[in-house]
Amino acid sequence: MVRLYVRLYMPNGNMKLWHGRFEAAPSKITEEISESISFDHALYKVDIRASLAHARMLAKIGVLTADEFKKIEGGLTQVRAEIAEGKMAFSAALEDIHMHVEARLTEIIGDTGKKLHTGRSRNDQVAVDTHLFVREALIEHRTDMVSLLAQILKLAEENFGVLWIGYTHLQIAQPVLLSHYLLAYFWQFARDLDLLDFVIQSTNQSPLGSAALGGANYPIDRQMTAHELGFAAPYPNSMDAVANRDYQLNYHFWATRLFLHIARFCEDIIIYNTTEFGYVTLSDAVTTGSSIMPQKKNPDIAELLRGKAGRVNGNLQALVTNLKGLPLTYNRDLQEDKVYLFDSVKQARQGLLGLKEILLNIQFNEARVLENLSRGFALATDIADFLVREKNTPFRDAHAVAGNAVAYCEKNQKRLEVLTKDDWQKIAGFAVEFPAGFFQPQQSVSRRQGDGSTNPTAVTEQLALARSFIIGHDSQG
Ligand code: ARG
Repeated sequence: MVRLYVRLYMPNGNMKLWHGRFEAAPSKITEEISESISFDHALYKVDIRASLAHARMLAKIGVLTADEFKKIEGGLTQVRAEIAEGKMAFSAALEDIHMHVEARLTEIIGDTGKKLHTGRSRNDQVAVDTHLFVREALIEHRTDMVSLLAQILKLAEENFGVLWIGYTHLQIAQPVLLSHYLLAYFWQFARDLDLLDFVIQSTNQSPLGSAALGGANYPIDRQMTAHELGFAAPYPNSMDAVANRDYQLNYHFWATRLFLHIARFCEDIIIYNTTEFGYVTLSDAVTTGSSIMPQKKNPDIAELLRGKAGRVNGNLQALVTNLKGLPLTYNRDLQEDKVYLFDSVKQARQGLLGLKEILLNIQFNEARVLENLSRGFALATDIADFLVREKNTPFRDAHAVAGNAVAYCEKNQKRLEVLTKDDWQKIAGFAVEFPAGFFQPQQSVSRRQGDGSTNPTAVTEQLALARSFIIGHDSQG
């Protein structure tokens, strides 16, 4: 076989961009395994933005002429428009988005297009693209998080004074204000917003200019590209820059923790929405029907968001497992990272918007809550504390007396608030008389003391703290 030594890449031909040292084409399954265009086309905008920065820098250091840069700039702009309009046909033969953009650019502007990749590798290219992608996703999530927080706060403000039940072990524990319950979720998402700002920081160095792993053979200006792309600085180490996926790990952990909070909230809502509880009603906008049981109105959106917590945790675990034991620097395993990333970005968006939608379509039924409060002996702790305060009973003994009272009520099918002096004589061995209104849950809530408690004054202060958290985080972090 005569080998043709001078084979140049032609965009329309069958040859790969890296064909030079190869004699035969890859097998079909190799091509199928190799390709990432079926998913990484999602990077096209950031890929082209990074290419423009790279080309502008090449022109500044004299590797490209001003005229060549203009051509490349025009060509890349056209490629971006073509992809946006769905005009570009993707092919596994061209592997990934980077090759597609370069091949099409060369088709449009000719040989100048082949100069774009000077001093660059797909290793730093894909790294810079994913840094930009994660940062953009987080900026969008940030807006959605602030608006979710605002909706929770709005409900907490509008429902100030409404009573709710605090649970432990899913057993009735104590009356609380509904606002206090809602704010408990507010602070979870507030911490997720702080974590989001930390994760954005971890995308803040530019890998561009690291080339394959050791830097480029040109006097490239990494400060210039880093600055143009909005990074704080270039990575100080080119090997770390192409191998690092910590910013994606951070992203996945953030998404997983966010979803743990979403899933707990959804779980509460699903339980409270049952006929048995009836504390909340979800409107038609966020419920769906059954194909067989006509009476059903299921909280499917809350259930799906709960389910997605498993999915995003799966993506976190997938990346952790992928990265474990990878030798430095770039390995093709890393191509898979984008599958997890794109999926979790989509889930996080749906999670934030979906939960907000649920909270726009929820109604709280205080009457059902009040019924259960009295059935569930939620004021037993108040009784114990009353005995401590008024009778100087040691708390442990007071706890036993209140416990006996609950047992007495269960046996005699009574509620704590209807027990007579006589009953108390039997239960405690001494007469106990409670002041008027003692058993009103509103009074129980007001008896709670201290910052951070469900006392209405403390909750009012908490509402103010929540409001100033939102104001402090409303702009870009
Ligand atoms: N599509 C590849 C990825 O996503 C680009 C990097 C390819 N680099 C290489 N050395 N083969 O990781």
